[in-house]
Amino acid sequence: MDHIKNYQAQFLEYLEGYVKERQPRNLYDPVNYILKLGGKRLRPVLTLLACDCFDGDYNKAFDAALSVEVFHNFSLVHDDIMDDAPLRRGKETVHEKWDINTGILSGDVMLIMAYQLFENYKPEVFQGLAKLFSKTATEVCEGQQYDVDFETRNDVSIDEYLKMIEYKTAVLVGAAMKMGAIVAETSEENQNAIYDFGRYLGIAFQLQDDYLDAFGNPETFGKQVGGDIIENKKTYLYLKAMEFASDEDKQKLLDYFSTQPEDTSHKVEDVKQIFTASGAKNATKEAVEQYTEKAFSLLRMLNVSDDKKQLLKQFGLALMTRNV
Ligand code: IPE
Ligand code: MN
Ligand code: MN
Repeated sequence: MDHIKNYQAQFLEYLEGYVKERQPRNLYDPVNYILKLGGKRLRPVLTLLACDCFDGDYNKAFDAALSVEVFHNFSLVHDDIMDDAPLRRGKETVHEKWDINTGILSGDVMLIMAYQLFENYKPEVFQGLAKLFSKTATEVCEGQQYDVDFETRNDVSIDEYLKMIEYKTAVLVGAAMKMGAIVAETSEENQNAIYDFGRYLGIAFQLQDDYLDAFGNPETFGKQVGGDIIENKKTYLYLKAMEFASDEDKQKLLDYFSTQPEDTSHKVEDVKQIFTASGAKNATKEAVEQYTEKAFSLLRMLNVSDDKKQLLKQFGLALMTRNV
């Protein structure tokens, strides 16, 4: 994992140079706050790694990597407003620390900053990056809307759920890797193969996110544990519980997921108990492994050396077993 730690450290150094105090403070302080809040920096590392895999000079990929990270953090600022989330990375969310209007506008400017980071690339590379970015950002919005729509529906299917997480989360992981491939100026075939690898890894990542949202350790998780349950999110855990649970427990879930009680502590505990007893918890873990395996099976077709493949695999395995 030394390679990956190295990319991470270099990326953080680059980010440090990018984060500057700017006026008006109430617009840019929240931008700097969220960008420096920490986080795993997975997506930018994947951009650098993908560029390196295709024998590109990863030093040229820092702006693309930063763009992905700025876009991701923009989406979190707005997502935390939409999900009414109090905590992010163990700290107050932007709209809690400032207010909702600040979160909206600071998020907006971040989206533009993300785009601006492509300006130093030569025209062919710029065009490839910008096109991918626009497509991805549109899909993320579509995924976010499905996610919200599903909160008030009780007939969401697994297929619909999978499409929703593909859009809200997985396409950005795929795009992060494809951007590295674009900067490396590798073939379109390679670009698409690494995109699909990232997309499957992204689906596994979101399944694991659903799992941790309910079963993560509140001491280390960094987000409000049970947040998805409180918000009536139709996660994989919920959908599988609705498939496996006893009729009595199904009715309980239906009741719990159609209201917003004032005191949510009983709801969270009861629902988690049903997730476990029904086998939904285990089924979610298994799905994480299946999608990670699917990603790995695509590696076989990839036109890169075995040690690079090994690095990509290590990264996937680390994601699968993460607890934050
Ligand atoms: C967030 O999805 C997706 C985007 C920000 C586009 P979630 O709402 O499930 O993610 P967390 O749990 O808040 O990080
Ligand atoms: Mn959300
Ligand atoms: Mn959220």
